[in-house]
Amino acid sequence: MILIRKQRAAFFAIVVACLAGLTFSTAALAEIDRGMILKESGVFGIVATFRLRADWDEMTPADRRGAAAEVVKTVAMHSGDVLVDAYLTRGLNANSDYFLRVHSYELTKGQDFMVDFRRTLIGRYSEVTETLVGVTKPLNYVTPEKSPELNKGLKSATYQGGMPRYAIVIPVQKNAAWWNMTAAERLAMAEGHTIPTLKHLVSVKRKLYHSTGLSGLDFITYFEMNDLTAFNNLVIALMSVPENLYHTRYGDPIILGTIHSVKDVFETLER
Ligand code: HEM
Repeated sequence: MILIRKQRAAFFAIVVACLAGLTFSTAALAEIDRGMILKESGVFGIVATFRLRADWDEMTPADRRGAAAEVVKTVAMHSGDVLVDAYLTRGLNANSDYFLRVHSYELTKGQDFMVDFRRTLIGRYSEVTETLVGVTKPLNYVTPEKSPELNKGLKSATYQGGMPRYAIVIPVQKNAAWWNMTAAERLAMAEGHTIPTLKHLVSVKRKLYHSTGLSGLDFITYFEMNDLTAFNNLVIALMSVPENLYHTRYGDPIILGTIHSVKDVFETLER
């Protein structure tokens, strides 16, 4: 009798352990795959900058305690639907203390996260100073078919600058003359843009979001690097290519931040 009870208990323990394992692995499976979502097309990106209200700094550390943990928990709650990156801009930007970059396969999921984030303590004490929305797309111009040599250059260059500490976001808008050029003319411009940039791929990581009709701009350009001087040189090189004549917005603002985990950004601001 005792033996049967023991066998039954062992059986239930195995079932519970299996179920727990199953729940755990399902949760792990359900989490957004960072490597994938950052590579794929058709992914929405929201970049939002925030400035902490003056009364945040007037609060006592005791009143602010737990704010970072609350954000971390909110991010974890949405981790099946969105990938959230956080950056500290305090001291580097006049209009913001931090910014978030949120990726999702459906824009509504990104919005759901933003709504919940704004309900956290630090979210309530933050003012949004900029919101940019864009979507990732396959290459338009420097494709294997249209520009094989440059495409090869693009694919073969690899970033070698070490774990990047800085991120820079530059919103870009083009004028009507740009959009009214023929596809061949724009291809030539895009090639003129790409030629001086390829050598910089060793020190700069780039990502492009298309934003026409989604935000009041055409592109959100996002870069990560360690070497800010190399980035400065890259941007100078791009100032003198013909494509630059078609920009009606370049930055305004350029958002420079340092890259940290969500926890570290909000713990710094909580202190
Ligand atoms: C490592 C540096 C860079 C490389 C290798 C690079 C390369 C490229 C390439 C290959 C394209 C064409 C994409 C396509 O075929 O659809 C492109 C587009 C673009 N790049 Fe860059 N780029 C770099 C830096 C920059 C910088 C510093 C800016 C300035 C904000 C910038 C702004 C843009 C914009 C706005 C487009 C979209 C153009 C369009 O589709 O009309 N890029 N870039």
